[in-house]
Amino acid sequence: MSSRIVVLISGSGTNLEALLSSLPESGIPAEVVAVGADQEAAGLEHARARGIETFVVPLVQGGDREAWGQQLGEMIADFEPHLIVLSGFMKLLPEAFVSRFSPRIINTHPSYLPEFPGAHAVRDALAAGANDTGASVIVVDDGVDTGEILAQERVAIRPGDTEDTLHSRIKIVERQLLLDVLRTLITPTKEHHD
Ligand code: GAR
Repeated sequence: MSSRIVVLISGSGTNLEALLSSLPESGIPAEVVAVGADQEAAGLEHARARGIETFVVPLVQGGDREAWGQQLGEMIADFEPHLIVLSGFMKLLPEAFVSRFSPRIINTHPSYLPEFPGAHAVRDALAAGANDTGASVIVVDDGVDTGEILAQERVAIRPGDTEDTLHSRIKIVERQLLLDVLRTLITPTKEHHD
């Protein structure tokens, strides 16, 4: 049986697109059954182009975060996912949402956590004058990028790197780490022969 994955994004979804193209040929028995966002994100087109269902649950500024989390949770639960993957999802999820789905929510992050948590990890690594940063895949908990680290890898910062050039190289590593983690979390079910 194929494991059902719901992906959440907020932006361009280039990592989502990489996942959608690599997953079917990875041998991992999983499929992305829906992609959701907190706004009409450009990356939703990657899913729509492949006939994958999409949904948007907007969080209006100053809105009720608990109610938003509840609505998002209901939407996701309808797809009966085994796993939720945050892929550039830039909103903090309310505690009730996290405890409802934990530990089946994972997140990719563009730094070598616990270094540079938060929404500007690549910019922060450059501003700190670091020699290297990295990419991580973690379990989502109540904190900001504080959950259990499932996989991570260092990425060197090169002289002249901009936020864009560095982030592009980090994303390549993130995509591979995510596949590695999915391979570990989603094991093929053994067929039984009498
Ligand atoms: C990725 O680098 C992802 O790790 C990061 O946003 C980028 C999304 O890129 N997420 C975070 O920073 C979460 N704290 P994409 O929209 O091109 O896939």
